[in-house]
Formats: sequence, structure tokens, C-alpha cells
Amino acid sequence: MTVRKIFIAGAGNVGSASAAFMAAKQLGDIYLYDILEDFSIGQAMDINQSLPYWNSDSRVTGCRSLDEMAGADVVVITAGGKRAEGMTRLDLLYQNLDIIYDIGEKVMALAPKAFVHITSNPVDVLTWALKERWPSMNITGLGCALDAMRFRFFLAEHLGVSREAVNCTVIGTHDDNMLPLMEQAHVGGIPVKQQLDARDVERLITLVKNGGGDIVRRLKTRSGFFAAATKVTHIVESHLYNRQHIFPVSVMVNGEYGYHDMALSLPASIGERGVHEIFEFDLSESERRLLDVCAASMKAVIAEIRGR
Ligand code: 2OP
Repeated sequence: MTVRKIFIAGAGNVGSASAAFMAAKQLGDIYLYDILEDFSIGQAMDINQSLPYWNSDSRVTGCRSLDEMAGADVVVITAGGKRAEGMTRLDLLYQNLDIIYDIGEKVMALAPKAFVHITSNPVDVLTWALKERWPSMNITGLGCALDAMRFRFFLAEHLGVSREAVNCTVIGTHDDNMLPLMEQAHVGGIPVKQQLDARDVERLITLVKNGGGDIVRRLKTRSGFFAAATKVTHIVESHLYNRQHIFPVSVMVNGEYGYHDMALSLPASIGERGVHEIFEFDLSESERRLLDVCAASMKAVIAEIRGR
């Protein structure tokens, strides 16, 4: 099999951990770029030296220039400001918009067919921004895929079962409006709602929604990255091996739930072509109202960007 070229823009915590996890899984040869001179080179050296343990022959190369993206099969964008304590993901918007437009330009010039995956926040807005500027870009955002994994963890902990036994998802936007779908969550095929009282439901939903913030509060100047990098690796693997796993990634909507011209995190199968199919749930009225809140706030941000 041809060795795939994976370019990661941003060697911060999410980018470097993604490079390490993808190299350990031998997903391809990895090119890790950072604006900080030599930083990505040092990170690449360190990751490479860990690979004998993983029996991986992947190579990680630190890059000083975005031009090294040329011909990449996958481009992961993690670059951007960090979400420090007290900052919302939207505070990062304008700072990160400029950064990702620069990277997007390079993608379209050097790797226009690449599967692009972005983690920078606010991720749903940035996914929309790239897709609106370059409609042919094959892009998804990490979106609520990270929150869905957190939801699975918290449910399994609460129920005292294997994490594998839990099937659940989170949709909407990767921010305070996110919608953990408790009605649709199952454990061993049984609806979890049958095993939870109203207080549990509320507590678990709060844990998921605060998942990222609770980590930032402890880390102070940076956000969590092990879980994000794990999910990025899972999504890239699903694309490279055409696995068609389903993740609530951030995607441009095309009439789903009646929405247009925005990106939302919705369950989508990821395979060789990128997004193969977006799945819609039969939502309850209250869930539908909460999804409308996500869409309305996304619409407002988009209007603000367009008016800039
Ligand atoms: C998270 O949820 C910071 O968005 C990132 O951990």
C-alpha cells in the first residue's frame, strides 16, 4: 500500500499528540508544521524516537514551511490561539479566522484533493468559513465528535459498564449549546434513560457540556488535547481505510433539519471520499428546539463575519 502523506498544521498539544497517535497507528508519513521555528522539528524527533515501541515505521518530519504540504492526502489544521481560562471558543474567532484562511489558501494551491480536518475553535464556524470560501474543499471539523466521546466516557462511568457497551452522540455546535442526545443513547442495546433518573440525566448532560471547560479550568493556560487528538486520529483512520465510522463531525448542512448555509455537528459516515452520508435523527420537540438554538447562534456569527 502506498504510504499516505499526512500534513498537520500546528504543532501545539493537539497537533503534536495527533502526530504521535497517527504515527503509532502507522497511518502514514506525517509532516508536522509550526510557525515557531524548530519547535515542530524537536517534536518530530521526540515522536520518531518513540516509534520502535509501537512497531511503527511511520516517519514524522518537522516542517518550517506550509509549502511542505504539497501533495498531502490529509491535512489536519490545529493551528490557532488556545482557549485560556475564562475565554469562550467564540473569543478565538477572529484571531483564528485569519490563520486558517492563510492555511486554506495553501491547501487549495498545494493539496486541493486532500481530506481536510480542522480542530481549531470555534470549530463549526471555522469549518463553515473554509467551505464557504473554497466550496470544493473536502473538509470536516472535529465538532461534537470530541463531546460524543466524552459523553460515552461519562455514561460508562456512571453505569459501571465497559465504554464499548455505550452508544451515544452529541450534535449541534461544539460550544455551550451542544446537544447530548440522551433520548437516543443506548447501553447494550437498552435505552439509557431507563436506567437514569432526572437528576442523573441533568448531571451527565452538564458533565458533557462542561467537559472541555472543566479541563481548561485545571490546566489554566491551555485546553485538553489527549481526547481531541485521539478522535482526530480515529477520524483520519476512518477516511484512510474507508471504514465509514460515524462521527458527529462538523459538516456543511444541505437541508438537514431544514438548515442551509452553515456548518453543524451532525453524525456523518467518514470514508475514502470524506463525508459519505449525513444521518438525521427523529428528534423530539425539545431536542429540535435546542438544535434550533445552535443553528440560530451559528447564523448570527456568520452574519457578523459577513459584515466584518
Ligand atoms: C475542548 O472541548 C478546547 O474545544 C476544546 O476540549
